[in-house]
Amino acid sequence: MKKIIIAIDGHSSCGKSTMAKDLAKTIGYTYVDSGAMYRAVTLHAIQKGIFKGDQLDLDKLKQDIRNIRITFIKNPATGRSDTYLNGQNVEHEIRSMEVANKVSPIAAVGFVREEMVKQQQAMGLSKGIVMDGRDIGTIVFPNAELKIFVTASPEIRAQRRLDELIAKGEHATFEEVLHNLATRDRIDSTRKDGPLRQAEDAVVLDNSNLTIQEQNHRLMELFGERVKP
Ligand code: DC
Repeated sequence: MKKIIIAIDGHSSCGKSTMAKDLAKTIGYTYVDSGAMYRAVTLHAIQKGIFKGDQLDLDKLKQDIRNIRITFIKNPATGRSDTYLNGQNVEHEIRSMEVANKVSPIAAVGFVREEMVKQQQAMGLSKGIVMDGRDIGTIVFPNAELKIFVTASPEIRAQRRLDELIAKGEHATFEEVLHNLATRDRIDSTRKDGPLRQAEDAVVLDNSNLTIQEQNHRLMELFGERVKP
């Protein structure tokens, strides 16, 4: 069967990652979480003092960016891929509220996006990949054979994110999470480079009222259509 590229874009916390991971597992493709890459750059910036309060030291970030290598390595204990920042497993740290609150300004920097897009395109060279993010169907893989644009209502997304944080033992309120999501959506959609935007040829999937089974069924239908000889 021919291998394709599947690009899944959409708002924060609309279930993209879970959807993309499950799909990749079912069809035996590699899953890449491009948001984890921007989160890893953000963690690097926090660790190296590139943030002065909320201000970014762009000169220092520019010096560092080419030396930031992000890779994904399967964790045998969970069966999932963990994110590595220059060889260090950072899967847990990149999911904190601190990183979530600082990632949007980092993801809006042109030279950061340029480097991440380069690393993402290299990962897709042999196809057989499911990548999720904001600009995958528009910038990273404009020729992807299957593009999905996922969305859900802000309240449903905030509740899902809050549940995730609580499960990890983090403290946050529903209002804080809703506010964080709204701010990220605004910055992600209005930035100059690689804004969150639906590709013209993307299939829209609003999963506010879909069960996981219904969603998976729809995805497998779309996948089947695209790989049909
Ligand atoms: O999907 P996520 O919430 O883990 O993404 C983290 C941040 O990275 C989010 O603010 C949007 C940004 N991002 C991006 O700008 N481009 C991508 N391809 C993926 C994520």
